[in-house]
Amino acid sequence: MEVVTTIAEARARLDAARRSGGTVGLVPTMGYLHEGHASLMTASVADNDFTMVTIFVNPLQFAAGEDLASYPRDLERDLEICSAEGVDLVLAPGVDEMYPTPIETTVTVDAVARPLEGRSRPEHFAGVATVVAKLFSIAGPCRAYFGAKDWQQVAVVRRMAHDLSMPVEVVPCPTVREHDGLAMSSRNVYLAAEERAQAPVLRRALDAGLVAIAEGERDAAVVESAMAAVVAEADLGTVDYVAAVQADALITDGPLHDEVRLLIAVQFGKARLIDNDGCHID
Ligand code: PAJ
Repeated sequence: MEVVTTIAEARARLDAARRSGGTVGLVPTMGYLHEGHASLMTASVADNDFTMVTIFVNPLQFAAGEDLASYPRDLERDLEICSAEGVDLVLAPGVDEMYPTPIETTVTVDAVARPLEGRSRPEHFAGVATVVAKLFSIAGPCRAYFGAKDWQQVAVVRRMAHDLSMPVEVVPCPTVREHDGLAMSSRNVYLAAEERAQAPVLRRALDAGLVAIAEGERDAAVVESAMAAVVAEADLGTVDYVAAVQADALITDGPLHDEVRLLIAVQFGKARLIDNDGCHID
């Protein structure tokens, strides 16, 4: 496995891989890797001849007052995980390499970025879309692997790639969880022991919403109340949102139908946790 820090080196390696007839897989990350990230690498390595992981804590997607400075980092351990997964190349650029001059060009995605995370973190998806557009431009034609844990992020990135005719196939991968149902996240290290004990409430709230739908409930507000009632059991958590929406548009258009997504965001102390799950209504 090779580790590079410049865009030029990464481009040269990927161009060479494609010239020799290989397909390229891209796994964008902010590092502090866990089994969720590793599952994206497994998928990419299985599907492609050459896999590049990027490790870059992207300042653009953090608002003032969020955890940019304290975001956990451990490059040495990250590289061990990438190597064990059979990754070919890691691009770990510094901020100066990615943003050598203050950026004047950003990518914004409209409707799908507006609700849920977009409402709570208004600048967030422009930061994500801009860095992912850069990574897609650096990577060139490829498959790019994203976790369904960040459901709205997948929708935003996919819409951007479609609208801007980027030569990238966005591949969503299932959420990897701890044994008690908590979705793995680099930010879980922020949880104090008591918060960690209550954090699986997100998974249980999603289950309560799924049960309500399975029992015939089609009113999104009622499903959301069922989810909120479960989160309320965790006295250390503060709900940011609970939502039952159509899976593609991330809004409702009347009674729930076809592909439905349940999404939830809860603040536990320093940790803002998100999770989601879905079902099909016949
Ligand atoms: P990061 O939070 O490091 O996540 C990198 C990728 O891993 C994302 O696609 C995310 O959805 C996926 N992932 C995280 N936890 C997962 C889990 N438990 N199961 C499966 N996949 C999981 O998301 C970002 O970084 C950034 O916004 C990025 C896309 C890299 C742009 O900066």
